[in-house]
Amino acid sequence: IAGGCLSLIVLGASGDLAKKKTFPAIFNLYKQGFLPDEMHVFGYARSNMTNEELHEKLLRYLKAERTDPTTNPEDVRKQFLNKITYIHGAYDADEGFIKLNEEILRLEREESDDNSPTRRLFYLALPPSVYPLVSKQIRKHCMNQRGWTRVIVEKPFGKDLESSEVLSSELGSLFTEDQLYRIDHYLGKELVQNLLVMRFANRFFVPIWNRDNIANVQIVFKEDFGTQGRGGYFDEYGIIRDIIQNHLVQVLCLVAMEKPVSLSPEHVRDEKVKVLQCIEPINEEEVVIGQYEGYKDDPTVPNDSVTPTFASLVLRINNERWDGVPFIMKAGKSLDTRKAEIRVQFKDVPGDIFKCKKQGRNEFVMRLQPKEAMYMKLTVKEPGLDMRATQSELDMSYHQRYQDIVIPEAYERLLLDTIRGDQQHFVRRDELRVAWEIFTPLLHRIDAGKLKVIPYKEGSRGPAEADELNARMGYQRTEGYCWKPPTLQ
Ligand code: BG6
Repeated sequence: IAGGCLSLIVLGASGDLAKKKTFPAIFNLYKQGFLPDEMHVFGYARSNMTNEELHEKLLRYLKAERTDPTTNPEDVRKQFLNKITYIHGAYDADEGFIKLNEEILRLEREESDDNSPTRRLFYLALPPSVYPLVSKQIRKHCMNQRGWTRVIVEKPFGKDLESSEVLSSELGSLFTEDQLYRIDHYLGKELVQNLLVMRFANRFFVPIWNRDNIANVQIVFKEDFGTQGRGGYFDEYGIIRDIIQNHLVQVLCLVAMEKPVSLSPEHVRDEKVKVLQCIEPINEEEVVIGQYEGYKDDPTVPNDSVTPTFASLVLRINNERWDGVPFIMKAGKSLDTRKAEIRVQFKDVPGDIFKCKKQGRNEFVMRLQPKEAMYMKLTVKEPGLDMRATQSELDMSYHQRYQDIVIPEAYERLLLDTIRGDQQHFVRRDELRVAWEIFTPLLHRIDAGKLKVIPYKEGSRGPAEADELNARMGYQRTEGYCWKPPTLQ
């Protein structure tokens, strides 16, 4: 990307997020040629390490893969590591940040003369409790005087409306909204990004995407593993704050919003905010929460924890398009499978002459992961001599349809958006606020122990009450039908 020397500064450089997501995302962009030659990466953290020690730590996370036939992947990785400078310092003291600024300046000067523009991107791979401290230091010592400064932050943004607003005000007093990039990595997923195109560029969908035709919508996140050593963090937050209030709500916005005036980031985000504002207060009768049985075996989880690791709840959008259509949001850890999907179930065909009801309803499913796919469940004649209707599908599985394409990682795409200055796939401050407004009353009731946390077996579908909730919301499972991702010939 043209635009002058680029400095990518990763704060919290030795932490898990940085090692597993941030540095690999930068590296992937680098090896595909998306980053300019005049680019430097800085790692900042508290521990005293040399550059080489940081490089050594990162090595196993940076995959040396061939991206073009003329270069040796090992050499590319070495070149990349040589661009990473490590600086250690505290998060709350001036000294380290002064040093960081000097290093950035020194390399900027090496790359360009004093008048050409430069770019600085700070990635806060840190616990949010230190965001304000670190942001103050960046503001005080490290702002770019010759071009833009952008700051990436990631959830949890507070624990409820009040704490989130405090954090937003603190950050808002230091950076303008167009300098702040709030990551929700679900917005970087290929199929989530496809939602706007699917909905608004296909005549198939435009006239039927409403309460007249759609019976219910499910947005589902399942993991077949537990907290995996993150119990300390997770127990403070629980599944609603960890997954539903952010990732699944972002997906809901894109499923339910009206057509934006254009694809400009503000137009898209305006529509997301509007749909959130139409969501009614959550009815506790339409909430099921649970905890898997082995959760408290995690040594970092207190023995008396009542934190939900599973939740299924109904959101209702009170507007002309969606009045009466339940949006079932379901998320759980330690379940039977790992997948994330959007399932739109259509109403029955009126005046059915084929007894379709027995065969199941039309559904449009977007499988976000694993094995990205979109498929439409529809009723067809069963092949053969008899006139019998059966359930089949139109299937667009990405690994089959786009065999030569590697789907980029969410973080990679979002990092590139930040460098390009495109905020469409980032959460705006007012969006965050409304999302918290929706969930805060329920979360406070759960925190106060007012809702029953139902135990469920590890590797199960979660509490049976969640399936009952689905049935109450009018969702009809198709008996005997199971979609199988196609295998390559
Ligand atoms: C994170 C959550 O935001 O998303 C984790 O904190 C969860 O608990 C993860 O495992 C899931 O991300 P993905 O991309 O694997 O679905």
